[in-house]
Amino acid sequence: MKKIMVTGALGQIGSELIVKLRNEYGTDNVLATDIREPQTEMDGPFAILDVTDGDKMTALAKEFGADTLMHMAALLSARAEENPMLAWNLNMGGLVNALETARALNLQFFTPSSIGSFGPSTPKDHTPQDTFQRPTTMYGINKVSGELLCDYYYHKFGVDTRGVRFPGLISYVAQPGGGTTDYAVDIFYKAVEDGNYTSFIAEGTYMDMMYMPDALQAIVDLMETDADNLIHRNAFNVTAMSFDPAELAAAIRKHIPSFEIAYDVDPVRQSIADSWPNSLDCSAAEAEWGFQATYDMDAMVTDMLEKIREKVNA
Ligand code: SER
Repeated sequence: MKKIMVTGALGQIGSELIVKLRNEYGTDNVLATDIREPQTEMDGPFAILDVTDGDKMTALAKEFGADTLMHMAALLSARAEENPMLAWNLNMGGLVNALETARALNLQFFTPSSIGSFGPSTPKDHTPQDTFQRPTTMYGINKVSGELLCDYYYHKFGVDTRGVRFPGLISYVAQPGGGTTDYAVDIFYKAVEDGNYTSFIAEGTYMDMMYMPDALQAIVDLMETDADNLIHRNAFNVTAMSFDPAELAAAIRKHIPSFEIAYDVDPVRQSIADSWPNSLDCSAAEAEWGFQATYDMDAMVTDMLEKIREKVNA
């Protein structure tokens, strides 16, 4: 990776990925693209790109001299359920355009899949790397199709496609928006601002989660791994922790003893969560490219509360 173009650069992952990549590979070697203008001035190259415009995507990557494409633009699970055709067009159309760009320009390629690629028939605990994937959501269908497409572009065209299945990602920088795991971010803002939170996900619903610094490091580590190490290429299970809303609330209470959680369950997001695993088995990622998360729940909660307090007070 020397010249990296990123789509969805203002999104939940993209906005922090850009900063990490620019620190590690040089500000001018990372082209950020998004469908909207940045709200604050960005340090480094930026271009407007609607990922459904494949010609423009290829032209931008060519002009920039990219050797790597990281395709992050996508609709998350709950928004995809609200508008399935928009999700299909954006998530699948954008991915095909990105893969075609990578094929045309011989780029190394990364795109994230998700715990959403699993469904009700998937084993829920220690979900294996290779298992049943019959998701019941549009987002999940997009993610499984994407995993298969990435494998196809590698086998058929030799494109160096790589990817992980991210769990819910927790960060104090950009708010996710439209995801099922978003409660695990919202809760911190409410804890700091109001001292209580009403969760749209029910007590007892376990989902995998990861703190953003570990997610970003996983992307870089997978991309930098020698291809000879990889048996799988795409869709590696990765996770750092699994908890339900009550356990997260208890961890927050260690810092804010009066914090209270209540529940007002959203049936749409609850049914999405119920169809996803409780906890993933990451042994393939550990064995093939040394994946290891550094933040557990307590370390994540401590850092999140500190950073969100700073943000809210600023
Ligand atoms: N965080 C995502 C969502 O909730 C899962 O990939 O949609």
